Parts: sequence; C-alpha cells; structure tokens
Amino acid sequence: MSEQNKNPETEPETTGHEWDGIKEYNNPLPRWWLNVFYITCIWAVGYWIFMPAIPYWTPTDGWTYTEGIRELSQRDKVAGEIAEVNAERAAHRDEIAGLTLAQVRESPELFEIALAGGASAFRDNCAGCHGSGAQGFIGFPNLNDDDWIWGGKLSDIEFTIRHGIRWDEDADTRFNEMPKYLADGFLSRDEVAAVTEYVLSLSGQEHDQAALAQGKELFDRECISCHGENGEGILEMGAPNLTDQIWLFPSDRAGIYETIAYSRNGVMPAWQGRLDEGTIKELALFVHSLGGGVEE
Ligand code: HEC
Ligand code: HEC
Repeated sequence: MSEQNKNPETEPETTGHEWDGIKEYNNPLPRWWLNVFYITCIWAVGYWIFMPAIPYWTPTDGWTYTEGIRELSQRDKVAGEIAEVNAERAAHRDEIAGLTLAQVRESPELFEIALAGGASAFRDNCAGCHGSGAQGFIGFPNLNDDDWIWGGKLSDIEFTIRHGIRWDEDADTRFNEMPKYLADGFLSRDEVAAVTEYVLSLSGQEHDQAALAQGKELFDRECISCHGENGEGILEMGAPNLTDQIWLFPSDRAGIYETIAYSRNGVMPAWQGRLDEGTIKELALFVHSLGGGVEE
C-alpha cells in the first residue's frame, strides 16, 4: 500500500515498532481462539488434579508422579481387565475339571472355551518343543497330522499329556526303549548298514538292492517285535511307522543309520501335578482338535 492511498480511519493500530518502513500491527487474536486457549488451560489444571500427571523425584523412590485424586492409571485398568478374564477362565476350568472329556464336547459353549483355554496353555507350555503351530521339529512330533507314535484317540492324548514319555518321575509314563544296536553290540556296523538299506526301502527311498536280503532278515529278527511285521509301527510300543513319509528323526541314510546304531528315545515331561486338571483336559481336547485326532 502506498503512502498516498492510506486511510487513517481504517489503518489498524500499531505497536509503534517500525523497521525499514514495515510497521507491526497490533491485531488482537480472534475471540474463539482465545476461548479455546483458556478452556485448555482450565482443562490442564483439572487434569493435573484428577489424573496421574506430574513427574517428580524423591530420594527414597526415585522418579515417580502425582497420582491424581481419581487414583486411575491405564496400567491398573489393564491389570483389572486381565484379572477379570483370568477369574472367568479359572471358573470355567474348574467346571471342565469336574466333567469327562465327552461331557465337555457335548456342550458347544464349554467345548469352545476349552479349545481357547487349551490353545493358550499350549502356547505357554508346549510350543517350546512342539512349535507354536504344533508343527513339531526333528525329534519333536508334529501334532497336526494323523500319524501318531503313541495314539491319537482323545484318551491316548490325555494319557500322554498326563504321564509324559520316558519321564522317570512318573510311574505310569509311556515307556519303551529302542536298543542301541551298534553301541550295545547287538549288531555290527555292516549289519546296521544292511538293515538301514531295508528301512530305506520300506518308505520307498533309494536303497542298495544287494543289501536288502540281509537287511530284511535282520529286521525280521530284531525289529518286528516293536515296529510290526511290515514296519507299519505299533502304537502300544511307541514304535513309529517306518513305511510312510513322516519321520520323527532324520530320514536319510545317515540319519537312519544313526537311529539304529545309537537309538534316540525322546523324552516328554509329564504334566499331571504341574498343570491343574482343567488345563490338562483343555489341552487334550485342543491337541485332539488340531486335525489328526482319531475318534474312539
Ligand atoms: C521338553 C519338550 C516337550 C514339551 C515341553 C512337550 N512335549 Fe510333547 N513330546 C515331546 C517329545 C520329544 C515327544 C515324542 C517322544 C517320543 O519320542 O516318543 C512328545 C510327544 C507328544 C505327544 C505324543 C505324540 C504322538 O504321536 O503320540 C503328545 C500328544 C504331546 N507330546 C503333547 C504335548 C503337550 C500337550 C505339551 C504341553 C503340555 C507337550 N507335549 C510338551 C517333547 C515335549
Ligand atoms: C524295543 C522296541 C524297539 C525295537 C526292538 C526297535 N525299535 Fe526302532 N524304535 C522304537 C521306538 C520306541 C522308536 C521311537 C523312538 C523315539 O520316539 O524317540 C523307534 C524309532 C525308530 C526309527 C526312527 C523313526 C522315525 O520316525 O524317525 C527307526 C528308523 C527305527 N526305529 C528302526 C528300527 C530298526 C531298524 C530296528 C531293528 C534293528 C528297530 N528300530 C528296533 C522301538 C524299537
């Protein structure tokens, strides 16, 4: 705006500050803006009084904060909610503990609760060995498939969970030990190698034909009492099926040789006494429901 066109009537008030011809106007802030500003100031003071807000340091407690007269914190709120859910779960677990597995399965509502409880107990207690999806690892069986070492009926699974496998501290634990054929001197290296070829042939893997006859003879003599006449496995013995593609331990020539020479004899802890009744039942129902469960 040039000097000539200036109208003193409409010229806003200035603060009197001027630099190189540029004047500082004294425009007030809009009313609404100030109102919002005052409200937020009042809100802040209220917040300091009612809610946890101002940090301070004390020689005894170190850093702490004003707790506010509502005694409210997000942490307490979450803790309260967790306690509520846990109490609800505990009530259901007690109910499930008093029923048979069949009774739980008959009630759709309880069954659903049991599966959710079982899934969470599985994450806490079993996933470290069996994997978070129960998919298993070498030496730790996959619990999703229908290939069972000790049995996939609900009652079998419950028994395995309760008493464990080769778990010394439980008198009823599932027990059977495959001999260490080489280490304990039952077979020579050549004999172990021959029977390895026969085992490879059982699951349709590439093998040495020349060793087959000797391998079969040894297998019939040494192995069928546990693994069955055709190597199909015997559940009561915990001796796996050797004719399928599902392996607990490495299934190549070297892996099978190692199993026969030194045996493996995996160990699974017993959970009876360590987990409450309701949780054990929930776990049995959950594992059975994973997809490989066998009906009674
Ligand atoms: C310390 C490792 C470990 C933990 C923890 C563990 N398991 Fe196992 N589990 C094993 C091993 C090893 C085997 C296989 C044992 C064998 O060689 O026969 C097994 C076998 C099983 C079987 C039998 C599978 C079959 O084919 O018959 C079931 C069922 C099972 N576990 C369920 C569970 C459940 C449920 C939990 C949690 C409460 C659990 N396991 C925790 C190591 C473990
Ligand atoms: C006293 C019973 C018993 C006898 C006899 C026995 N086994 Fe086993 N075998 C087992 C058991 C039990 C397992 C499972 C070990 C484990 O779960 O840790 C097993 C596992 C195996 C495995 C591993 C299977 C897998 O899925 O990884 C092979 C291979 C095997 N046996 C071969 C043989 C051969 C070959 C012989 C004879 C020379 C033999 N076994 C004799 C009980 C026996």
